[in-house]
Amino acid sequence: MDKFIIKGGRRLTGEVVISGAKNAAVAILPAVILSDEPCTIENVPSISDVNISIRILKEMGATVEYLGNNTYRIDPTTIDKCCVPYETARKMRASYYFLGALLGKFKKARVSMPGGCPLGDRPIDQHLKAFTALGAEYNLSQGMVDLKADKLEGNQIFFDVVTVGATMNAMLAAVRAEGLTVIENAAKEPHIVDLANFLSAMGANIIGAGTDVIKIKGVKYLHGTTYSVIPDQIEAGTFMVAVAATKGDVLIKNVIPKHLESITKKLEKIGVNIQQFDDSIRVWVDGPLVKTNVKTAPHPGFPTDMQSQIATLLTLAEGTSIITENIWEQRFRYVDELRRMGADITVNGKVALIEGKGKLMGAPVKACDLRAGAALIIAGLAASGVTEIEDIFHIERGYDCMEGKLRALGADIEKVSVPDTQSKSDKENGREAV
Ligand code: EPZ
Repeated sequence: MDKFIIKGGRRLTGEVVISGAKNAAVAILPAVILSDEPCTIENVPSISDVNISIRILKEMGATVEYLGNNTYRIDPTTIDKCCVPYETARKMRASYYFLGALLGKFKKARVSMPGGCPLGDRPIDQHLKAFTALGAEYNLSQGMVDLKADKLEGNQIFFDVVTVGATMNAMLAAVRAEGLTVIENAAKEPHIVDLANFLSAMGANIIGAGTDVIKIKGVKYLHGTTYSVIPDQIEAGTFMVAVAATKGDVLIKNVIPKHLESITKKLEKIGVNIQQFDDSIRVWVDGPLVKTNVKTAPHPGFPTDMQSQIATLLTLAEGTSIITENIWEQRFRYVDELRRMGADITVNGKVALIEGKGKLMGAPVKACDLRAGAALIIAGLAASGVTEIEDIFHIERGYDCMEGKLRALGADIEKVSVPDTQSKSDKENGREAV
């Protein structure tokens, strides 16, 4: 199994370019199924969740060509299966987007119940609510979700909770349904808008994405298009925190500053300097970090996918900071690992109390999920001494060449392979050639 070895205490300086957004790409790639012609998708991040999505498309019969420069040409007209194999689908949560895309195009789908990060209960009741509202029937058995519909008809869908995945899936299933669909209490994340923009580029009729009411008029035909995935808001935020944690000075390029507003505001409260340009931001620190309270919330609130990273930063600010995780019930599993590095954090339900000591010490730690792994990298960069991070396949699910980008900024980080006990399928995942 691979691990990262980080020698901490070096300031990050220079420039870094952000890759395409994971949570947009894993929805846009399945969405190509809805098209009646080939599509070209640009700025696709080179991460294992994308590798799995491409592998699923190929296993269903789509013709996929990698054109280099993070660009894929996908022809969905050769698809001859509507079933996503259990072994492949269970590896990532986003496999559920194939449900909405296959239902929307073929009126049937068979996909395994989603896997993904162990963040607590990850139900799909709202997804099923959307599918049934449009006229589909579902059956759950042996870990598989089966959907079928004689006809898909537009309808009113009101989500009981704000859910990114179900909002995406409702759009995927509705764009070719007959008539008008109104999605209420919709999620507003940047990747929701990116999927809607991609679908519209194919000829879909969607208004309101980015607000809590999305209206979709079904169309009969979707043409091919060339589309570029938006920059990754969470990768950018992760680098912003890494620069702050090392008291560095970095220009972060290929970002959409508006997508980073809640992260920028929170970092400025913590004492980080941020200067915004059209498609880049400069981040630097020239004073002490200040204890601050953080509450995660759906967009435009502070993103839950930045919670573990900002918590790590706050261990370096003197005094007591409070983190409240309002989206996931088990998103503090990284705390045990930070404690091994000298952090003083008490967790009680959805609240973590951080007694910032201003420093961390290197230690052997383990990534338990994607963003926890990112937090441990940040901790290792800031700590004195050496940090070894195991299970970095979690990190490679969602960050495109993280160690290479960090090394270019002056970090002392290297990836080493050691004999592992990791299952063969996980290993295939991380290194799947497409
Ligand atoms: C997406 O997960 C992201 N994953 C997650 O990012 C992110 O944390 C999450 O949205 C919130 O922003 C992808 O986009 C692939 P939700 P998703 O449906 O869609 C409850 C990362 O690090 N809920 O918005 O699974 C659910 O339990 C990953 O990149 C239901 O109750 O999240 C949670 O409490 C981790 N019923 C809340 O809604 C449902 O049917 C938000 O979940 C669906 C969700």
